Amino acid sequence: MSWDNSGVFVEVRFGPYCLHPTEGLRRGSGELHVTPKSLSVLHFLASRPGRVIAKDALIAAVWQGVAVSDSALTSCIKELRRTLEDDAKCPRFIETLNRRGYRFIAAVSPVTAAPAEEAPSGTPLPSSPLLGRGGVSTAFLGRERELARMREVWTRAAGGRRQLILLAGEPGIGKTRLASEFASVRAESAATVLVGRCDEEALVSYQPFVEALNWYARVCPESDLRAQLAAIGGGGELGSLLPELLRRVPDLPAQPAMNPEGQRYRLFETVAELLAVASATHPMILVCDDLHWADKPTLLMLRHIMRASDAASLCIIGTYRENELARTHPLVELLADFRSEPSVTRLALQGLEEVHVQGLIDAVVGSDGWAQLARVVTHSTNGNPFFVVEMLRHLAETGALAELRHAPSGGKAALGLPEGVKEVIGRRLSRLSEASNRTLSLAAVIGREFGIEVLEALGDLPEGRLLDAIDEAVQAQLIAELPGRVDSFTFVHALIRETLHGELTTTRRVRLHRRVGEAIERLTHGRPDPPLADLAYHFVQAASGDTADKAIDYATRAGDGAADALAHEEAARFYDMALQSLEFKPPGPENEALRCELHARRADAFGALAQWTLQKMEIERALQHLDPLKIERRCELVEKMVGALFFSLDIRSVERLAPEALALAEQVQRSDLAANAIAWLARARSASGDLRGSIEMDNAAIARAGSARTIAHAMQPLSLYLTARTRDGIAQGFRATKMARSSHDATFTMYSLSHLGLNLGSMGRYAEAATVFDEARQFGHKYGVLPLLARATSMAAGFHLNVFDFTGTEALALEARELARSADYAPTFVSAGIDLLLTFARRHELSTAEALLAETEAAVATTPGWHEWLWRLRLCQVRAELALERGAYDAALAEANESIRQSQSKGRPKYEALGLITKARALHGIGRTHDAVADARDGVNVARGTADPALLLLALDALLVLDGDDASSAEASALDTEISSALPDEVIRRRFRESEVVQRVRRL
Ligand SMILES: Nc1ncnc2c1ncn2[C@@H]1O[C@H](COP(=O)(O)OP(=O)(O)OP(=O)(O)O)[C@@H](O)[C@H]1O
Ligand SMILES: [Mg+2]
Repeated sequence: MSWDNSGVFVEVRFGPYCLHPTEGLRRGSGELHVTPKSLSVLHFLASRPGRVIAKDALIAAVWQGVAVSDSALTSCIKELRRTLEDDAKCPRFIETLNRRGYRFIAAVSPVTAAPAEEAPSGTPLPSSPLLGRGGVSTAFLGRERELARMREVWTRAAGGRRQLILLAGEPGIGKTRLASEFASVRAESAATVLVGRCDEEALVSYQPFVEALNWYARVCPESDLRAQLAAIGGGGELGSLLPELLRRVPDLPAQPAMNPEGQRYRLFETVAELLAVASATHPMILVCDDLHWADKPTLLMLRHIMRASDAASLCIIGTYRENELARTHPLVELLADFRSEPSVTRLALQGLEEVHVQGLIDAVVGSDGWAQLARVVTHSTNGNPFFVVEMLRHLAETGALAELRHAPSGGKAALGLPEGVKEVIGRRLSRLSEASNRTLSLAAVIGREFGIEVLEALGDLPEGRLLDAIDEAVQAQLIAELPGRVDSFTFVHALIRETLHGELTTTRRVRLHRRVGEAIERLTHGRPDPPLADLAYHFVQAASGDTADKAIDYATRAGDGAADALAHEEAARFYDMALQSLEFKPPGPENEALRCELHARRADAFGALAQWTLQKMEIERALQHLDPLKIERRCELVEKMVGALFFSLDIRSVERLAPEALALAEQVQRSDLAANAIAWLARARSASGDLRGSIEMDNAAIARAGSARTIAHAMQPLSLYLTARTRDGIAQGFRATKMARSSHDATFTMYSLSHLGLNLGSMGRYAEAATVFDEARQFGHKYGVLPLLARATSMAAGFHLNVFDFTGTEALALEARELARSADYAPTFVSAGIDLLLTFARRHELSTAEALLAETEAAVATTPGWHEWLWRLRLCQVRAELALERGAYDAALAEANESIRQSQSKGRPKYEALGLITKARALHGIGRTHDAVADARDGVNVARGTADPALLLLALDALLVLDGDDASSAEASALDTEISSALPDEVIRRRFRESEVVQRVRRL
């Protein structure tokens, strides 16, 4: 029953009858007996109501290539008329049109898509009907070399290594066809084939994935679907993306509220995970067609899926027109990213060879072809198959084939063959009737796919003539019915629509877009979910003063929708469209207020994407257009700006602007905003190295906030840790993490957990610290807070370093650096680098350390703001330890002195103690043992003041080497026992036990 090639069967109701693909024809509850062929004829006609169907087409569809005479069809029609009590002379259902065919004339109820054609669990799924969309009329020819490469890639993919094949080439060269052919063959051997594409207007967020996965959700057996969703943690993130999934699994878990950046990461993760589990039973091909029209979010999703590290038997095939990529196109960036990825294979398609062009000739013009035609056509089309077929149709339609046949071979070029694809299409279009041309122009304005209802609503032609005009274009193979969707058509090729659209004058195009927008508006009036993106697109294209309001309204709402769906780039694009339409409105306060609001929303979109520079720019613009009397709004915007400045490491500007935010907050009596402004100022203090001042300001912010939460709650424990006030740090850290649990604020949660972990780790509460860091890291992973995940990982590395677990430190610090690199988050890249340096120094790996030192110093030099003083101080300590390791005692001494000086001036006791320990060792190295003992004793005293047992043990070890006494020795041994028993697990305990320091302490 696959007459429409789609695999989708639909139910049709008309009059008292209901025609169902599996249950047959019914009237009420009674089944009517009709032969299967007659049923197929009825289904074919009734699912194309109002359209003239030629007898040949009907026979071809129903008898599928079996030669039968017209009488077979006539007897089916008779049987149907009898059953339906219809009359040929005065038909109610099936009309005969002399010499033209049949037409189903009754009204049909909206055709409901049949419920999912669910395959039994574990069996291969039907391929997406989008495979071969637009109709495939000729056999597939050539491309042996490309197919061989693709088969190799497929073998790797099927073995669990995800792969991406990129097919590039000019329009019409055969990218889509090659992808479809390859996928169809794999589908026959039980691969799951999903298909999605991008449209020129880019109106749907993540379009190719949405199309592909909606199909999957539709056909996958429910038990499998549920098992797969359970395996990926519920899949709640997918609800807003895939309506079909919500229909199949209405009890999809709700998505926890999180900040947008994290939500989007989760969405990417979930899509990647679903594809991985879905490809576990049957390897999967996912075709993403026309990536040259993909927007950035779609490409980011693609990149995320390709970068996922788990095994998946997944092969994505992406196609794109190489010559249509502007330098700034997001695909260019992605291609550059993928340049040296072994999992990405690029194939550039060239024209078909002459022998294959000959194949196309045989298929299109049959016996009208002649010996040299292939050469002439290959020459003038460069073997571009789309061009070839259109050219042949053109030549056949105009009768030029015969003329060419007799022209002398040299004169063939002069016969005026169309020179390009668009020209040949133009010439073919010009042979259609005026009505058909007009209809196609309107359709081209609607989009690549269009429904008759919009054309009808445009009211250009009476219904009958409209249908005839459409039939004419279908006959000319310029458009085709969309499989499985009644009254919907698609241009058989994007190039045909592009030609028509390009031929319209600007004035006409603008007017038509407006009319299409209005028609869609009328048709969808009162619907709860109007097609906002389409409406926005058409009204923005209409670009005129009197439609501007609509354009702005729809574009703003489409932007909000995109933001809700986490397509933030797209949201920003829609808001920009709204801003452009504002140009058509007269200037004035209303205009300004809207502008301000739209820029503010764009700012939020960029903030969600961690694009701080763009966010700042948009806030600035919002402020420029803000009514000076709106003080409270101004305060909110300035506050947002301060946050953006802080995250982009611009502390100077935070210092400049936070006081303004504070003054405004006081003016409008918003103590929550005032408290936040104070907290941002506290960050500036701590960045300049004034830790004590920063702690005091945080106290002020916390007091001012009352019961509200401020960034001070989460950040103050860091300053407390740095000044070794760990007891206070732990108390405040626990308070903050408690607030975090009810906050749904990922940034706040990550800061509070990791700062609590730091304090616990330096108080000897190691098991608790490990738990808290684990929680932070899991949280960061789960909600995709990448920069802060990197930061928490690096802080966790620091705690392993404290207890001489160098292996653990190295693993975590490397992971943190990787994360920081991919999130483009310089501060952690530096901090984790310093932890690695200390690890290498203490493991005596000098040459590794030297190379890393240069890189880390360079990173510090290019990363301004924030913790410059802290990094400088820590690097000083690194250099001191490295010099000591090299035996360069003088240099070690100088660096250690500097480290001590800086630590004292900033109030950083831990590094003062470390500096003193290194200094003592250096002095010992140059024979000044007496001085060395004094410094070692100072080191012990400072370390004791920090309440950090591991630091104290390190200091005691340094002292014991020089000047052991029983008390120190007993103290060290007690610390050894204390730390050992507090460590979270046996692995760390073993590494601690086997460390040089502990071995030595135990020997002494
Ligand atoms: N190898 C082939 N054998 C037979 N027909 C082919 C072959 N390659 C392409 N065609 C036909 O040529 C036409 C254009 O091919 P296709 O749509 O795949 O081009 P494309 O490269 O995807 O173009 P676009 O960039 O516009 O999407 C289609 O009708 C297709 O069926
Ligand atoms: Mg294509």
